[in-house]
Amino acid sequence: MDSFLIKGGVPLHGEISISGSKNAVLPIMAATLLTGDPCVIRHVPDLSDVRFMGRILESLGAEVKFDGDTVTVHAAKVKGFGDYELIRKMRGSICILGPLLARLNQASVSLPGGCVIGTRPIDLHLKGLRALGAQLDISGGYINAKTRRLKGTTLFLGGRVGPTVLGTANIMMAATLADGITVIESAACEPEVTDLANFLVSMGARITGIGSPTLTITGVKTLHGTDHEVIPDRIEACTFLCAAAATHGEVLLHGARPEHFAAVLDKLREAGVKVERKAGALLVKACRTLKPTDVTTLPYSGFPTDVQAQFMALMCQARGISVITERIFESRFMHVSEMARLGAEISIEGPSAIVKGGRPLSGAPVMASDLRASAALVIAGLSATGSTQVNRIYHLDRGYERMESKLKKLGARIDRVDGE
Ligand code: EPU
Repeated sequence: MDSFLIKGGVPLHGEISISGSKNAVLPIMAATLLTGDPCVIRHVPDLSDVRFMGRILESLGAEVKFDGDTVTVHAAKVKGFGDYELIRKMRGSICILGPLLARLNQASVSLPGGCVIGTRPIDLHLKGLRALGAQLDISGGYINAKTRRLKGTTLFLGGRVGPTVLGTANIMMAATLADGITVIESAACEPEVTDLANFLVSMGARITGIGSPTLTITGVKTLHGTDHEVIPDRIEACTFLCAAAATHGEVLLHGARPEHFAAVLDKLREAGVKVERKAGALLVKACRTLKPTDVTTLPYSGFPTDVQAQFMALMCQARGISVITERIFESRFMHVSEMARLGAEISIEGPSAIVKGGRPLSGAPVMASDLRASAALVIAGLSATGSTQVNRIYHLDRGYERMESKLKKLGARIDRVDGE
């Protein structure tokens, strides 16, 4: 397993471009199953999760071609029975269920597992599909779904901590080919859901309320092929903002959409980081002394859970106490014990992490536990003195395109070490 070897203490300086969004492209790739025509998707990041989704679509009978940052999917004929082992391995693959059911009136998809950030139930996906008239049963590890034809309805999709991102994606995709009108109340408003909705509209779907908590979808008979450019990855942008600020650097980000991460920019500014727009790009400049800042993760447009770990690494550099509260996933603090190896003083009180920042970090070997925890450990390693080895970076490769080359371009001393 590969690892990163980081020699920390170097302020990041320079400019990089933000890649396409992982969490937008995965459901968009699933949406190509709704039509027999070819769909062209541009600005696709080269990530293991994206290639994995490509393999899942191929296993269902679609032709998938990768050409640079463009993916063409042609699902002329598809089967509704997904490969158990492939689908089980990636949580995002649950969003093939809605499109398969809408197109074929039946589908069997393996249940995605939990993961280190929480139990990750799918009850809301199932509730939504049942409301559209699907009969579901779970046996042998599969969700078996069938319907005579999906029928539009009004449904409330909010859960115990608010809306569900992939649940909204799944139900919205299913509803595009249902009979009649579907209204999804408490829909997720994340930019990735909006990007998917725009992709579906470009395929001929009729959707209003895009970007709001009430989506209205009027079913159509068929959808057609399209050509779409994926939005930039707001989580990658925020990760580099935190890395630049934590190393007291100055970085220009090209291609980011600041309106997609206003809550993060607000907190960065509160911490004393200067972020300004400059000729269509975003310039981040850290001041010498960072201020401690409290953060609570929330559904969009609140502070994203996917930036919580990286912001915590930044707050380790701010002298004083910051309270970071995680409201979306119950066990998303796996990075805390690893950051402690670098000398970070963080204690956990229920859903909150209390960070006593300002103590210098010093390098150590650490273990990545999930995608965003890995990114946080890289930021901590970059801001620590001495060497940090971040093990198990296959997690990072799932969601960050060429992270080490981008960091090297900014002057970081980081190398990939091949593992067996
Ligand atoms: N939830 C339920 N029931 C459901 C679905 C969700 O109770 O049926 C709960 C979850 O347990 C969680 C909350 O609702 O407490 C929100 O989960 P959500 O469904 O929104 O998460 P997701 O759609 O499975 C996507 C991203 C995650 C990101 C979350 C929240 C993808 C592929 N994944 O997951 O991204 O953290 O939304 O914004 O889009 C990552 O990129 O590192 C990542 C984990």
